[in-house]
Amino acid sequence: VRLVVLVSGSGSNLQALLDAAADPAYGAEVVAVGADRPAVEGLARAERHGVPTFVARVADFATRDDWDAALLAECSRYKPDLIVSAGFMKLVGPRFLGEYEGRYINTHNALLPAFPGTHGPRDALAYGVKLAGATLHFVDSGVDTGAIIAQVAVPVLDDDTEDTLLERIKVAERRQLVDTVGRMARDGWTVNERKVRLGRG
Ligand code: GRF
Repeated sequence: VRLVVLVSGSGSNLQALLDAAADPAYGAEVVAVGADRPAVEGLARAERHGVPTFVARVADFATRDDWDAALLAECSRYKPDLIVSAGFMKLVGPRFLGEYEGRYINTHNALLPAFPGTHGPRDALAYGVKLAGATLHFVDSGVDTGAIIAQVAVPVLDDDTEDTLLERIKVAERRQLVDTVGRMARDGWTVNERKVRLGRG
C-alpha cells in the first residue's frame, strides 16, 4: 500500500511510519511526504529516508481552491492508496476530499468528539478530564469530525503540564498510528454509516 504523509511540523508520527515501513512485512511504504510550509523537520526526516517531498503553500496560490487543487495534484502524482495527515495543520477542500474521502485519515491528539482543533491536550487539561488520548479518524469536511478508526487513552496525572501530557499522548498516538495503518494496509477496511471495520470479508 502506497502512503503519502502530510506534515506541518516535527514529524514524529511520520518518523514512526518511516521506521515501521522499513520492514517489508509492514505492508505499507511512504512514497512521498508533503507539507504546507517549507523547511520543517518532517520534510528533513523524509529526505533522510530518501523519500520524495513536496511543498504546497496556501500563500502561493490566488485562492484556497487553487491551493486545494495543487495539493490534490501533488498527492496524486504518487498514486497513493492512503493519505495520512500527521500534524498537517491545514483543512483540505472539496476537490481533495472528492478524490480522497475514505482514503484520507488524520491523527488527532485528543479523544474525539471531545477537544477537536489545534489545542486538544491543552483544552483537555483545562477541562480537568482524567483520561486523554489520541484518535485516528477519516477526514470529512468538518474539523476532526470524520468516522473514528481507532482511539487510545492515557491518564492525566495531577502534576501534568501541557508538555508532559502531550508527550504521554504522543507516545501512545504514534504506536496507534503505526499499528492501525499497518492493519489497514495489510487487511483493508470498510466504512458504513460511520462504522469503521478493519479487515477483509
Ligand atoms: C500530533 O500530536 C497530532 O495529533 C497533532 O499534531 C501533532 C503532530 O506531531 N495534530 P508530529 O509532527 O507528528 O511530531
